[in-house]
Amino acid sequence: MRDLLAWDQTLFKDSELFELDHVPEHFLHRDAQLQSLMYSVRPALSGSRPLNCLCIGAPGTGKTTAVAKVFEEVEKHASKVVPVLVNCQVDSTRYAVFSHIFKKLIGYAPPTSGVSFKKIFSEVAKYLAEHEKVLVVALDDMNYLFYENEVNEVLYSLLRAHETYPGARVGVIAILSDTGVPHILDPKVESVFLPEEIAFPQYTREEIRDILSNRARLGFFPSVLDDSVLDRITEHTFALGDLRVGIDLLKRSCLNAERRASKNISPQDVESAYEKSRLIHLSYLMRSLKEDEKTLLGMVAEMQQANSGELYENFHSRTSLGYTRFYELLNKLDSLKLIEAGFTGKGSRGRSRVVTLRYKPDEVKARL
Ligand SMILES: Nc1ncnc2c1ncn2[C@@H]1O[C@H](COP(=O)(O)OP(=O)(O)O)[C@@H](O)[C@H]1O
Ligand SMILES: [Mg+2]
Repeated sequence: MRDLLAWDQTLFKDSELFELDHVPEHFLHRDAQLQSLMYSVRPALSGSRPLNCLCIGAPGTGKTTAVAKVFEEVEKHASKVVPVLVNCQVDSTRYAVFSHIFKKLIGYAPPTSGVSFKKIFSEVAKYLAEHEKVLVVALDDMNYLFYENEVNEVLYSLLRAHETYPGARVGVIAILSDTGVPHILDPKVESVFLPEEIAFPQYTREEIRDILSNRARLGFFPSVLDDSVLDRITEHTFALGDLRVGIDLLKRSCLNAERRASKNISPQDVESAYEKSRLIHLSYLMRSLKEDEKTLLGMVAEMQQANSGELYENFHSRTSLGYTRFYELLNKLDSLKLIEAGFTGKGSRGRSRVVTLRYKPDEVKARL
């Protein structure tokens, strides 16, 4: 046992580089997006209100990383600006978002109960005005605020703070996963938000190869990964369109090679790693589901193919939730591309939908 743990013939020069929350030193092929972000944040450096932005693109196109890079710079060089990156998967209500901001600004978390939203909000706004700080809030994965129906409240509170507390200056960087479904804001929010839109298109095959090759060069010892194996990893990543898959593939393939006590990664190491890595996108999505959503998804996995009416009956008898909520949850699972819910044109008033799972039932059930 001790020998196993002491095994120092590692192929990793720096294994940290393959963790998904690692902020890479070399952020390639995103110069235009970084520039747009910098441009929008720049007014904050001289104490003015920054422009709001909307970063939009598929998962794994570098949105979170781009904002993290810009925030790193801001932290280093601008003491008047306080950047706060909020993960809306975790903080998905107005209360939670402002508690997060409060903690970053004031240094400790507000009590979790017994304090009204208004109180937390006014503490945040007062702090900004009194200390003449400009707050830049990135709402990462803002999709989750739409699911919870909190998005208008959150944006409205942030963007109109200066009306109640003159001198409180706030800019918002909204980060949205493009799900193909339009996300519509309340007109009165839209009129104060007016974001600069920054698109994060899918990486091309060549860009993916370049990014992965760079990561491998920094993270592996020389000659661990040869070109043909890199091509294979690139192909798999390109097919799923999520760079996370590629980074995870690098890590797992390399671990497979180590396990064989080999000095380099073989095509077979990649193929067996792919069985796990291709599901990373699924795991990523499912980690964030709430209890009712999991229940519904579990039912779809069980039934394999269901009619929405039938599904609702089951769902209602298990959870006693009503049709409106059911319908919201169904749409959410659909827009996350976990299920497909298409209209058949049949059924009562033509509203019946056929619901199918987009993954194998076992893959989903294993993650519930
Ligand atoms: N242009 C890039 N250069 C280097 N690494 C990147 C690049 N884009 C994304 N990554 C890496 O891919 C992973 C996913 O990126 P992320 O910023 O989390 O995507 P998104 O927020 O769009 O889902 C991260 O581990 C990140 O380090
Ligand atoms: Mg992200």
